[in-house]
Amino acid sequence: MDRKRDTIGTVMITQEQIDRKAAEIGRRIEEDFKGEEIVLVGILRGAVLWMGDVMKNVDLDMTIDFMAVSSYGASTKSSGIVRINKDLDTDIEGKNVIIVEDIVDSGTTLSYLKSYLENRDAKTVKICTLLDKPDGRRAEIDVDYIGFTVDDRFIVGYGLDYDQKYRNLPYITYLEEE
Ligand code: IMP
Ligand code: MG
Repeated sequence: MDRKRDTIGTVMITQEQIDRKAAEIGRRIEEDFKGEEIVLVGILRGAVLWMGDVMKNVDLDMTIDFMAVSSYGASTKSSGIVRINKDLDTDIEGKNVIIVEDIVDSGTTLSYLKSYLENRDAKTVKICTLLDKPDGRRAEIDVDYIGFTVDDRFIVGYGLDYDQKYRNLPYITYLEEE
């Protein structure tokens, strides 16, 4: 491992743990949607690695799509404002949608997205997140599939960024306080 990667912090969650969790959640999704079609909606850019892990672990008829939203900018605190930068290309009317997200913090992004997709007459809208940070919660939100619950720290790696960096770390870590 190179030096630059070593300076970012202690490894909290490894690729191996994530692989195991994705397999476990994949089986739950298969049971919950047995005989049905699903649409996985990955939220760019943070969910990029987790989306790949989840989709390859679900043996059901599936299509995928992506949305890009922003609520953060280059700060570590949510602005509470959700903007859609890229909308779906798929018609989700009558479909089972699973939103695949990197982390649920305040819940602002996902409570907005969930009602946005429900208002497009999806049959069901579920949420699958790699990480849950319950201490940050400000909006009521049911999260259906959770990879790992983390402390109220600023997490980076495995898709999660600080100022667009560190998304490529193949593990989950956090920013050390200065
Ligand atoms: P929420 O709307 O506050 O739940 O924030 C959700 C979004 O904020 C996530 O999709 C992430 O992009 C970003 N975010 C929240 N917490 C963290 C973190 O600890 N590290 C990196 N990004 C985060
Ligand atoms: Mg995000």
